[in-house]
Amino acid sequence: MAAKRLVVLVSGSGTNLQALLDAVAASGAEAYGAEIVAVGADRSGIAGLERAERAGLPTFVCRVKDHPTREAWDRALADATAAYEPDLVVSAGFMKIVGKEFLARFGGRFINTHPALLPSFPGAHGVRDALAYGAKVTGCTVHFVDDGVDTGPIIAQGVVEVRDEDYADEGAALHERIKEVERTLLVYVVGRLARDGFSIEGRKVVIP
Ligand code: GRF
Repeated sequence: MAAKRLVVLVSGSGTNLQALLDAVAASGAEAYGAEIVAVGADRSGIAGLERAERAGLPTFVCRVKDHPTREAWDRALADATAAYEPDLVVSAGFMKIVGKEFLARFGGRFINTHPALLPSFPGAHGVRDALAYGAKVTGCTVHFVDDGVDTGPIIAQGVVEVRDEDYADEGAALHERIKEVERTLLVYVVGRLARDGFSIEGRKVVIP
């Protein structure tokens, strides 16, 4: 079967993107089940885009401030993504909430990775919030994106223990441990979805 086409969206260091790039390079696109066809971002000058360029991939940047309204930005992001005809879109540390147009076009095949065990600690500060709450375990969640903030159907989760010393650096080391689990989980999930297909039955994601 032909490899599925992935567009990956990033906002930062792009280590999750790198894990996907490495997985495709290690197995070959056909065996992995997917290839990355483009990388998009909401800002320029980030390591995530440099990783894409090093891998020889086309990139695009779609900044909110370059558009008159949030809706216009959302449409431009959807158009830029659609230009690469993706089967799946992956938000790998993409720190923006997409709008109606993007979801109308990519809903049900738009995946996000979040650094907490949803539905606990959604939003932009999942690691910090779990620590502030005093959680003893946290982790990461790979899920489909719906129109809420980190509320879509869960595909897979990974657990990470909180250590006493995590309070000393406001969760920086904890986030690094979560990201290690997150990268492995994301590579696994994207490969499975691409190779084996999936259905979303209410809140339940079924991968045969
Ligand atoms: C990940 O922990 C992701 O869940 C969060 O931001 C981090 C992105 O890391 N939203 P990277 O850019 O993939 O290194």
